[in-house]
Amino acid sequence: MKASIIRKYGGNEVIEYVEDFPKPEVGDDEILIEMRAASVNPIDWKVMKGDVKVMLDYKMPHVLGNDGAGVVVQLGANANKFKVGDEVYFRPGKKKVVGTFAEFCSVKQDEAGLKPKNLSFEEAAGIPLVGLTSWQALFELGNLQKGQKVLIHAGSGGVGSIAIQLAKNIGAEVTTTTSTANVELVKSLGADIVIDYKKENFQDKLSGYDLVFDTLGGKTRDESYKVLKPGGILISVNGIPTTDVAYEYGLNFIIKSLFFILNMKNTSLAKKYKVNYKYLFMNANGEQLSKIAKLIEDKKVKPLVDKTFPLKDVREAFSYQQTGRAKGKIIIKIK
Ligand SMILES: NC(=O)c1ccc[n+]([C@@H]2O[C@H](COP(=O)([O-])OP(=O)(O)OC[C@H]3O[C@@H](n4cnc5c(N)ncnc54)[C@H](OP(=O)(O)O)[C@@H]3O)[C@@H](O)[C@H]2O)c1
Repeated sequence: MKASIIRKYGGNEVIEYVEDFPKPEVGDDEILIEMRAASVNPIDWKVMKGDVKVMLDYKMPHVLGNDGAGVVVQLGANANKFKVGDEVYFRPGKKKVVGTFAEFCSVKQDEAGLKPKNLSFEEAAGIPLVGLTSWQALFELGNLQKGQKVLIHAGSGGVGSIAIQLAKNIGAEVTTTTSTANVELVKSLGADIVIDYKKENFQDKLSGYDLVFDTLGGKTRDESYKVLKPGGILISVNGIPTTDVAYEYGLNFIIKSLFFILNMKNTSLAKKYKVNYKYLFMNANGEQLSKIAKLIEDKKVKPLVDKTFPLKDVREAFSYQQTGRAKGKIIIKIK
């Protein structure tokens, strides 16, 4: 099958487009999906560079890609949730060897959901990873409630653009950060308050927040503690995972200790401001995808697609995303 693969870790130059990659096997509890489209996420090129190999060390050659949409063409022996011909969207479990930048991908049936009926495959392909990340940050870890104040950083990005809409939908007061060029865009997604980071510092303007969802890390995260009210929570998806994530992944004592040391600044800032800090490493979840699909079909959440590239141009798609300026999602069209 056609696929975009890597044979070793490295920069964008290690990406290869091949036409003879073996079609994936289908496990008993899996479904085989003929891919129509996939989306680019920063995790794709972090995996490519070997930046996350402490947690996810893939066998080579490895097919890139972490989410997408397509049509079910085969069922595993025990797969009974979908039927052949169903249109689905999904984020495969992280241990999956074959990714989504390929003509076929097999995935555990519990990791897929029916594609929102009102979206094209390309629009749907951009939802799973960022939708699940936002859902798990805001509702699972953050327990965000109606009327609470949430700050979502980088509202025009893949994650931020969905997180704004999910938070708004449950009745939270949503503040986001973005650059001048994207102020109107994030307002159109539902942001109540927009901080243009080119003109002002969010930490000088905001206070009393229940939750901060940080997608940027670094200085932005350090400054975000200040805007929380005591007892508030800061959830980050950017940076070094905390030791509880290391336990979840069964990592060894040295790595756990390293994560502990590298998070000491977060621990002390959380203590200083009397707030909680959590790191999220998102998980595949078909049930949550079904809930997100319902919100999309009810027109409560809409996709935001920036550019689309063909499967043979994954290298160009990565270069574009690495600029850090994408508005919403970058899509890989497969069929
Ligand atoms: N741990 C996990 O499970 C997990 C899951 C998903 C994502 N992530 C991580 O989350 C991060 C974001 O992912 P993404 O898909 O949303 O990335 P993305 O789509 O590439 O983000 C690009 C956006 O970031 C905005 N941005 C850049 N600098 C900014 C700043 N200083 N303030 C406000 N906005 C800024 C840009 O807007 P402007 O052009 O206006 O600056 C642009 O729209 C990545 O590091 C990714 O690896 C982690």
